[in-house]
Amino acid sequence: MIIIPGPASRDLGERVASEMGAEAHAIDHRIFPDGESYIRLTDPVEGETVAIVQTTAPDPDRKLMNLFLMARTAHDLGAERIICVAPYLAYTRQDKRFLEGEALSLDVVFGILEASGVDDLVVVDAHNKSSLRRIEADHDIEVHNLSAIPLLADNLLRSGFEGAYSLSPDKGAIHLAESAAKILGGGVGFFEKTRDRTTGEIEMKVADLDIEGQNAVVFDDIISSGGTMARAVEGLKSHGASKVATACTHALFMEGARERVSGAGADTIVISDSVQSEAEAVRVSIAPLLARMLMELTSAKLTTR
Ligand code: R5P
Repeated sequence: MIIIPGPASRDLGERVASEMGAEAHAIDHRIFPDGESYIRLTDPVEGETVAIVQTTAPDPDRKLMNLFLMARTAHDLGAERIICVAPYLAYTRQDKRFLEGEALSLDVVFGILEASGVDDLVVVDAHNKSSLRRIEADHDIEVHNLSAIPLLADNLLRSGFEGAYSLSPDKGAIHLAESAAKILGGGVGFFEKTRDRTTGEIEMKVADLDIEGQNAVVFDDIISSGGTMARAVEGLKSHGASKVATACTHALFMEGARERVSGAGADTIVISDSVQSEAEAVRVSIAPLLARMLMELTSAKLTTR
């Protein structure tokens, strides 16, 4: 297998290769003065299984474009199988038309990945599992959705959050809290969250929880503006929670988000390395998770030959 860390995931791609005892293959990547990307695969890929590790945030449009360029080039150069490892796949949150006339971004992204010759797509904590199943059924791409939540919970277990309450910011994400609670061993709950589709304003109500004096962790797939986590932390603190941690897979941390979450009273912020970020937080690597998946995919392929 040829492992290619894309420009957005150099460190993560190298960690994945090292977990597998494999070499990370460098590519030539530049940005032209007009803003276009230049991509050149420098090692031969003909007849090989190629795993491209490229997350797609921040700057999702460029990072997706780079992913399409790498995949399509590997396909054109005769790669036998192309596995895109995009831990954070941008545009998955726009999986339906919430307002009439909206673009179905998730469908557009999948259409281009398929046309670029991608066989397998590995993502982590995809925003909406059922949309992913729908889109997978419509395209010739096998999707492997992994979860970083057990890794994040395991880290919290070892840093004083054993027995803490596991919460999700809304009912739809309760599976994240449930999966964490198996490790932390405390109760499970969720918030009632509503977001104004036009203004983006978030309102969160704490469900009926007896949290007073207990430690709690809010698990989410994404922190973007930090508004959701900040409201959740404030809610827990106002209900008398003791220590409150936030744990999320994709720390997009847009302008001021990290400060918003800690300013709301979060005692610990745990994130994965699915996207590159300089933000101050406890970082847990998903490289072992991705490496295990790639090894499974490769051996599955060998046994079916
Ligand atoms: C939404 O449903 C997601 O699971 C996250 O809760 C959301 O994307 C977080 O966004 P923000 O940090 O901007 O509130």
